[in-house]
Order: sequence, then C-alpha cells, then structure tokens
Amino acid sequence: MPFVERVFSGVQPTGNLHLGNYLGAIVNFVKMQETHNCIYCVVDMHAITQGLDVWGGPAELARNTREVTAAFIASGIDPKKHIVFNQSQVSGHAELAWIFNCVARMGWLGRMTQFKEKAGKDRENASVGLFDYPVLMAADILLYRATHVPVGEDQKQHLELSRDIAQKFNNDFGDSIRSHGANDGLFFPLPEPLITGPATRVMSLRDGTKKMSKSDASDNSRINLTDDADTIAQKIRKAKTDPEPLPSEEKGLEARPEADNLVGIFAALSDRSKADVLREFGGGQFSSFKNALAELCVTKLAPIAGEMKRLVSDPGHIDSILNEGSDRARAIAQETMNRSKDIVGFIRRR
Ligand code: TRP
Repeated sequence: MPFVERVFSGVQPTGNLHLGNYLGAIVNFVKMQETHNCIYCVVDMHAITQGLDVWGGPAELARNTREVTAAFIASGIDPKKHIVFNQSQVSGHAELAWIFNCVARMGWLGRMTQFKEKAGKDRENASVGLFDYPVLMAADILLYRATHVPVGEDQKQHLELSRDIAQKFNNDFGDSIRSHGANDGLFFPLPEPLITGPATRVMSLRDGTKKMSKSDASDNSRINLTDDADTIAQKIRKAKTDPEPLPSEEKGLEARPEADNLVGIFAALSDRSKADVLREFGGGQFSSFKNALAELCVTKLAPIAGEMKRLVSDPGHIDSILNEGSDRARAIAQETMNRSKDIVGFIRRR
C-alpha cells in the first residue's frame, strides 16, 4: 500500500526558543507546507520527562506551550490549512506509545545518546519517561502514519528508532495486518527524517564548538526568538570571534568554528550560500560583518518577535487554535488507533 505523504514534527515547550530552533526546524516546517499536508505538534508530554527544575512547573508549561504555538504561527505556519495542536489533547499519543512499548526493546532504547546525555551519571534517578521518550516520539509520528519528519540533526537516531518500531510492528503483526485488509502487510510507513534546514547546526555565540542551547547558562550564547532589536544587536556584537579577518573562501572557515557559525547564520538568514556571503565579506574585519549580521538578524527576527508578543497577549485565541487543531488531529488519530487495536486484538466497542 503506498502511503499518502504526510509531514509530522514536534517542538518541546521547554522555554526559550532560539535561532537554532528557528533555522534548524521551524523554517523547514514553513517550507514543507507548500508541498505536503503537515501536522505540527507542541509536545507537552515530552516536556515533562525531565525534572521540574527543567520544565519549570505547571504555569510555565502552559505559558511555554502557548509561546511555541505563537512562534509557529508568527513564523508563517498556517493553522487553517495545516494542523497545529498540543500533544496531550489527543490521547492516542499515549495509547499508541503503550503498544509501541511492547514492540520496542530495552536494548534499542539503551543505545539512545540523548538519553545518556540527559540522564547523565545518575541514571537510577532519571524518570522512566525520559528513557521512554523516543517511543512516545515514534507514537507521535506513526499515530498519523506520517512519512516525512523535518527535524534537527540531533533527532536522527530517534527517527531510526521510529523506523525500527514501525518495521517490527509490521513484522510481528503481519498476518493480522493482512487479515485486516492491508494485503501487503504494511500498516505503518517507515518515516524518513528531513534534515535540510538552512542551518541544521547553529552553534553557541560564545563557543563555536557547542550547539546553541536553551540550557546554556549564558544568555549571550543564544539569540532568543523573543529578544528585542537592541538585545540581538548586542549579542552579535559580543559574539566570540578570532583575530583573523574573514576568509574569502569557504575552505578558510575550517578550524575557525566561531567564524564558520556566524557566516552560516548569515547565509541561512539571507538564503545565500556561505561562499556567496564570503565573496561579499571576505578579507574584511569582523566588526563590519557583525554590523551587517546584526541588521539582518533584526530584520528577519524582529517581526516574528513582535507577532509572537501580540499572539501570546491573547491566550484565549491561542487556545482556540490548539483546540481546533486537536479536534482535527484526533479524527486522524482515532482511525489509526481503531485499526491498531484491531490488529493487536484489543476488543473495542463498535
Ligand atoms: N524530540 C524532538 C526534539 O526534541 C521533539 C519531538 C517529539 C518530535 N516528538 C516528535 C520531533 C515527533 C519530530 C517528530 O526536537
């Protein structure tokens, strides 16, 4: 059975959306709308897998959920043509995750590098949810039988796990899948990652070898989507560089992580190649390049920040978007859940 192409992706509402999220994910989400039916989910259930100190508690979670929704819309995602909702409103995510818990193997999850990083040394004290996080992610995607998943580089391994789960489900239940009408025995598609944002890795402004991150102690290390024009300009001016002038060719960026990062950001925001940016700025000092970069950042991001501010000032409106999106998501999810239950052998009311 050829699967209808469908895009699904999720963003966690854990605060401080930054330029890395924007260039690595959201810009791509916006683009995919032209060619696919898209479902964009604020994954609030994933957000609570770490300690309260990380996600900030109930009031923060709700605030952050609305803020990510606002960022989606302010960046150009159309919640009428596509679907925007928050995960916890559609119970199928948790239901399908349970079935997948019984398909996925401990060994598969034990290899997840994100778990190892986030759990740190004290694994005994990590939540079961943090360990199970990639299974819930597989359920997110496969609940809509999505075929394409725009994500950042760091999510590649989780996508591979989603494919393994889909494949093992199709294998384990092959006969049942066939007896329920899919002659080829394929119920779930094997979702493909799309790691093609304009900048799949945006690095810290203070250390070009570290990813830009919401958890970096220094706010100067990142540009937040909610930063105002002055803050953006100041952070770019303070960004770490090296004493050499900018190279004229891309090769000259090797072993100069900070220069490479800033040129990459400029290229991504202006939809140009790094080589092209260097043709204009190569040989010059960082100070003038930084001025141009600050201006570009402000031009691109300030309208988004402004629109986000306007949107979050009316939480009722955001909630109505999420409610409506959830209703539409639930209708698709219901169909997958019914069929999954039949395939597994769960009796349900008809
Ligand atoms: N784990 C993803 C991240 O941190 C967020 C996510 C949750 C997701 N469920 C998803 C992304 C499903 C894509 C598809 O970026």
